[in-house]
Amino acid sequence: MVEFDQINPPPRLLMGPGPINADPRVLRAMSAQLVGQYDPAMTAYMNETMALYRQIFETDNQWTFVVDGTSRAGIEAALVSVLEPGDKVVVPVFGRFGYLLCEIAERVGATVLPIYVEWGQVFKPEQIEAAIKEHQPKLLACVHGDTSTTMAQPMAELGEICRRYDVLFYSDVTASIAGNTFKTDAWGLDAVTGGLQKCLGGPSGSAPITLSDQFVAQIRKRHHVEAGIKDPHHKEGAGSKIRSNYFDLPMILDYWGEERLNHHTEATSMLYGARECARIVVQEGLDNVIERHQRNGDAMLAGLQGLNLKPFGDLSNKMTNVVGVYIPDSVDGEAVRQTMLLDFGIEIGTSFGPLRGKIWRIGTMGYNARKDAVLTTLASLENVLRRAGHALPAGEAVDIAMEVYDCATQS
Ligand SMILES: Cc1ncc(COP(=O)(O)O)c(C=O)c1O
Repeated sequence: MVEFDQINPPPRLLMGPGPINADPRVLRAMSAQLVGQYDPAMTAYMNETMALYRQIFETDNQWTFVVDGTSRAGIEAALVSVLEPGDKVVVPVFGRFGYLLCEIAERVGATVLPIYVEWGQVFKPEQIEAAIKEHQPKLLACVHGDTSTTMAQPMAELGEICRRYDVLFYSDVTASIAGNTFKTDAWGLDAVTGGLQKCLGGPSGSAPITLSDQFVAQIRKRHHVEAGIKDPHHKEGAGSKIRSNYFDLPMILDYWGEERLNHHTEATSMLYGARECARIVVQEGLDNVIERHQRNGDAMLAGLQGLNLKPFGDLSNKMTNVVGVYIPDSVDGEAVRQTMLLDFGIEIGTSFGPLRGKIWRIGTMGYNARKDAVLTTLASLENVLRRAGHALPAGEAVDIAMEVYDCATQS
């Protein structure tokens, strides 16, 4: 017989690009007892979750709910439901997750038309408009905040461009939502998907999603009802059947809608967690939460510069909640991360693709967008870097970060 100890993870302060430590309130909500999926208590929690995420996404969209699965479940549900084989999709790629959108759209059979900028930069609206004008796609699919580069693509002007060319507009906001301004309705988005494990302060495993009426009208053309639950009153769309059952959004809408037509069994504990993540943000006030991310992100950036570390990328378009810094030539980047983890219990992030081995990524998000978390990380990193031989002015990082907090209190 093989036996193992019960789960008892080591204490860690997760200051990477996500996941981060979940808010204890979310963990408590997730440990609540299950109820049946049609219990009025459960359907009320589902409706409340819809109302809460409308506030997080800044939308009036009726169809605002959660897809069960990690953030890419939301991405995949949106893309597989709207894109039919051969449909054109323009994807501005400014990091690893733009490539993920291309990969998923390609698997769906769409004609993927990527445009690229160097990692660390974002697109000008004219560049995106030119691609839309040239290709006349069905969809513009763009990541908002790409964790791999720490950049946030400005989006305020893109919705209007999409309307002019009659293009649907989708964004992946996994890394940015609730920590950076994002206005679904005011910016003209048709579909937006996120995740809990960054600024929302929860674990991965649930993907909040919101869909405009126009997007829903498009996907409903592909509406289909499973044979075992179909009744004579069910009407189906004339469009092609969506190539995934699990991520078939029209079927998921039937489940979240008034009919509560059976699809998957809603992941009850994740629903409790997603609901609590949103409740925390709404209670604190969305603008206050974004401001908290800005303040802690600014303090972290200033403190890291005080450690003689050079920030990565175009800082005017950096997300509030994560910063990249070049690894100094004089130190072994992975050894520093190991020492931070094993001696101080603090995780900072590595990087992918062209940035592998070149930058660390350090997050201040969700439950960890806090002064004590920022100061502890800076003080520990100073110690590790100094002992690794990196020249730095002793004590300055924490002092500089403190100044940022002092200024914020005075203003
Ligand atoms: C911007 C972005 N999109 C998508 C994902 C994928 O999320 P998941 O790993 O939860 O599927 C991530 C994960 O870090 C992300 O940062």
